[in-house]
Amino acid sequence: MALLKTYEAGEIEPVSTTADRARIAAQLDELGVRLEQVYLPGVVPDLDAAQDEIIESCRQQVNGLMQDHAFSGIDALTLHADTPDLDRIRRNCLREHCHSADEGRLILAGQALFCLRGHAGSVYALFCSPGDFILLPANVPHWFDPGRAPRLCAVRFFGEGSQYRPVDEDGPESKRPPGLDDARGQAAMPMSGLTRGRAGGRMPAAPT
Ligand SMILES: [Fe+2]
Repeated sequence: MALLKTYEAGEIEPVSTTADRARIAAQLDELGVRLEQVYLPGVVPDLDAAQDEIIESCRQQVNGLMQDHAFSGIDALTLHADTPDLDRIRRNCLREHCHSADEGRLILAGQALFCLRGHAGSVYALFCSPGDFILLPANVPHWFDPGRAPRLCAVRFFGEGSQYRPVDEDGPESKRPPGLDDARGQAAMPMSGLTRGRAGGRMPAAPT
């Protein structure tokens, strides 16, 4: 289940809230952003699974998305309480940035909040759950909030030669609407379950 809240610049109260997929699609289309629902196999990856294992758990879906959207690269991201260097990773996620090529995320387990910067500083805050695939066009400023105690597994998709460009100047927590943890406090969405498996999983270097 996805949920979209929109905010005027610098405001913390949303001007609109909807879980209707058609309305979400129409609002995201204002930014050129797309949200797709992907059928996932029933197997939920362990939080400590290696990237290859995570990707193989949904290989058919990943291949389809790469072909549909002409992505050239992928990796897998898991975040949880024992993730090494979690604070730094979370800060990187929260930093407003954009990319020089399209970016995609497929949520396999857990929950995340994508915030997209719209016209005149407005913010589109999209809560994503397992099966949600978000396609961000090049040069759309955004940040990604996995929560203060993340439990997340996702596949990331990259366009050819994509470059990362930070765009915020005032710090990651300034002038922003409520984050993922605030939304949970408002009972906007439940957490989706994840399991811990064996140790030794690999982590991507720069989850943004
Ligand atoms: Fe990004």
